[in-house]
Amino acid sequence: MNGNEMLVNTTESKQFDVQDDQSILDAALKSGLVLEYSCKNGQCGVCKATLLKGDVVELQAQLALSDRERNDKKILTCCCAAVTDIEIDAVDLSALHGIEIKTLPARVSQVAYLSDNIVEVKLRLPPTANFQFIEGQYLDVIWNSIRRSYSIASISSEKEITLLIKRFENGQMSDYWFNKILANDLLRIEGPKGTFFLRDADTPLIFLATGTGIAPIKSILHRLEHDPDYQQMHPIAVYWGSRYSEEFVWQANFHKLKVDFYHVLSKPVADWAGETGYVQDNAITNQADFSASAVYACGSNAMIQSAKQKFLASGLPENRFHSDAFVQSF
Ligand SMILES: Cc1cc2nc3c(=O)[nH]c(=O)nc-3n(C[C@H](O)[C@H](O)[C@H](O)COP(=O)(O)OP(=O)(O)OC[C@H]3O[C@@H](n4cnc5c(N)ncnc54)[C@H](O)[C@@H]3O)c2cc1C
Ligand code: FES
Repeated sequence: MNGNEMLVNTTESKQFDVQDDQSILDAALKSGLVLEYSCKNGQCGVCKATLLKGDVVELQAQLALSDRERNDKKILTCCCAAVTDIEIDAVDLSALHGIEIKTLPARVSQVAYLSDNIVEVKLRLPPTANFQFIEGQYLDVIWNSIRRSYSIASISSEKEITLLIKRFENGQMSDYWFNKILANDLLRIEGPKGTFFLRDADTPLIFLATGTGIAPIKSILHRLEHDPDYQQMHPIAVYWGSRYSEEFVWQANFHKLKVDFYHVLSKPVADWAGETGYVQDNAITNQADFSASAVYACGSNAMIQSAKQKFLASGLPENRFHSDAFVQSF
């Protein structure tokens, strides 16, 4: 049934119809607006917006909202539907306009086990697919009715899509990736999705990753490395954290980019020469002033929430903290 109207106050106000049972985020995406989002299931908080007028109902629990934020009229657009005409304050990411979310067949072309718990999978799409994405985005893989999200580790000019996947104990998709997968298997993908992409290249950049959270960061950095128009004017630092040193499965090797790369072990061993502790603490200790920086954090939700709180307390403007949390699927 036809529902209510939504007014989104972006740089230019935009107005459109929303269906009763449709999340505000989905309605916006369908209308051509791209609001910030990542997990789409209420856990990461990336889609937080301010409800200026009207009423909403929860379609799924807004897990990432605090009581204080609820009182301040914050909503998670992936979790709420409009029950009256509404007006919200949110950012429309025009860089993603025109990038179509597609469902496509994908063949497994290569499988490489980089450690006991990390596999690199390459997927080949049909030659006519014209699959476009911005480096940093993710896609959903669908196999046997199971759907899981994975960040794209390759860049858009490459022929194949590369994923870096961590094994989860008793994980349904982990069982496929680590026990059942065969070259030439046919999967389905849906994407690209998410709004984790580089939008402030002309500032000092700090990237934080835990585990396979390095995947979209690898993609973003390779994009910069291959972009003939990009001239590096500011420092770039990458803090990559892991519990085990054998899970640092990517060796960064740039010719054009100058990147300060820190490997951070949370549980250091006797012969470890790198950093120890948490990535966010290492990054904050290494720099005095974050007022001109931008931070891109990807991986565990615990790291991201802690990093956000610490960086904002250290002077980073809130609109310069971008994240993609690898939260569990429901
Ligand atoms: C936007 C996004 C991007 C992602 N990108 C990547 C990526 O590039 N590489 C990658 O390895 N993973 C990524 N993930 C996580 C991935 O989608 C799956 O959640 C993960 O691979 C587990 O799936 P599974 O089917 O093996 O385990 P499941 O069957 O879903 O779960 C098995 C058990 O493992 C635990 N578990 C599952 N997922 C998580 C989690 N995320 N955090 C903590 N505990 C969990 C739970 O206790 C659960 O009972 C991403 C997630 C999101 C939301
Ligand atoms: S909470 Fe809405 S996108 Fe994650």
